[in-house]
Amino acid sequence: MALPLPHPALAAADPELAALVGAEELLQADTLRLIPSENYVSAAVLEASGTVLQNKYSEGYAGRRYYEGQQNIDQVERLAVARATSLFGVDHANVQPYSGSPANLAVYLAFARPGDTVMGMALPMGGHLTHGWGVSATGTWFRGVQYGVRHDDGLIDFDQVRDLAVKERPKVIFCGGTALPRTIDFAAFAEIAREAGAVLVADVAHIAGLIAGGAHPSPVPHVDVVSTTTHKTLRGPRGAMLMCREEHAKAVDKAVFPGLQGGPHNQTTAAIAVALHEAAQPSFRDYAHAVVANAKALAAELLARGFDLVSGGTDNHLILIDLTSKDVPGKVAAKALDRAGIVVNYNTVPFDPRKPFDPSGIRIGTPSLTSRGLGTEHMAAVAEWIDRGVAAAAKGDESALAAIRAEVSDLMSAHPAPGLPA
Ligand SMILES: Cc1ncc(COP(=O)(O)O)c(C=O)c1O
Repeated sequence: MALPLPHPALAAADPELAALVGAEELLQADTLRLIPSENYVSAAVLEASGTVLQNKYSEGYAGRRYYEGQQNIDQVERLAVARATSLFGVDHANVQPYSGSPANLAVYLAFARPGDTVMGMALPMGGHLTHGWGVSATGTWFRGVQYGVRHDDGLIDFDQVRDLAVKERPKVIFCGGTALPRTIDFAAFAEIAREAGAVLVADVAHIAGLIAGGAHPSPVPHVDVVSTTTHKTLRGPRGAMLMCREEHAKAVDKAVFPGLQGGPHNQTTAAIAVALHEAAQPSFRDYAHAVVANAKALAAELLARGFDLVSGGTDNHLILIDLTSKDVPGKVAAKALDRAGIVVNYNTVPFDPRKPFDPSGIRIGTPSLTSRGLGTEHMAAVAEWIDRGVAAAAKGDESALAAIRAEVSDLMSAHPAPGLPA
């Protein structure tokens, strides 16, 4: 049985908190994490994010700060920016956004005014809250118009995107999302944005690592701004970046600071720099392609077991399962799978007749299991566990879930995760 990692100072100063951290380390080590927006950072990224860079205030940008003592911090931020521009082939990168939601808010601040029309994919169709959805600030301070996917094939309805964009003339169009299993056609969005006179933003939070590793086409030649978190497939710390062509650099920087934020989180900037360095290695290309190969293999195994997948499968790291035909609500399935050591999230599916807090689907993905070294040869076992887990959820069969739990534990102990107890 693995032991928690040593945190001697924390254990001495605050044993209660240290125990919680240790328990989380063991939980992450011992469970199969299928949440597509999660990953395991390397020990190096983890170390960088826990450094004394934490102690420094650095409002402004390298060479233009409002605090002294930036001899090292400026270099850290310059390194992160240089690595981002090189990896993604962009003119300009801002590595300061605290996370994906503030990054997107900064985009609105840069290119729209309160009350302006903005456009994005509807949340229940796979878009993100910050793409103008009603309950988000982006849907209350702006007038959000929303596109979706087609009923018959689950793919983005580009006729609807064009009609809406031409009719509504949004200032900003977001493409990308949080539950999209298929390749995003950035060129098609760009043509529509040009026609509508809108700024086009690709939110690649989910697929940034796939883009960096050459396993998904890049939006860079097509869009005005790229927004991404750094903690999903990119395997960095919790943070975000905005990237753009030189012509938008000033507007983006001004929106992040002083528009929206104060001092950047320098320890996160450092960890982003490390993650970008890791993502530039040849092994990361292998990782990105393995994530997709695993997802395709898992999708095929699930289809073979009679699961309905939104859009019929996947091109990337993510699979959206509609459990309607299995007669198990998504939430019931997700909670049962959690008891079996398989961590997923319940999710709406397009045109879901059920409520968002009790939807029809579950969303799974392969970034984390690929980081543990699992390959296509393991995907039949993963699909089988999901199948048995969902059947057990339908019958309330706790002993079947316990049996899966033990099998999951065995496989996880044979494949330790980066940065976690082995
Ligand atoms: C597409 C997309 N954009 C933005 C975000 C927001 O990121 P954060 O949770 O870091 O605010 C997410 C998070 O899930 C996302 O999937």
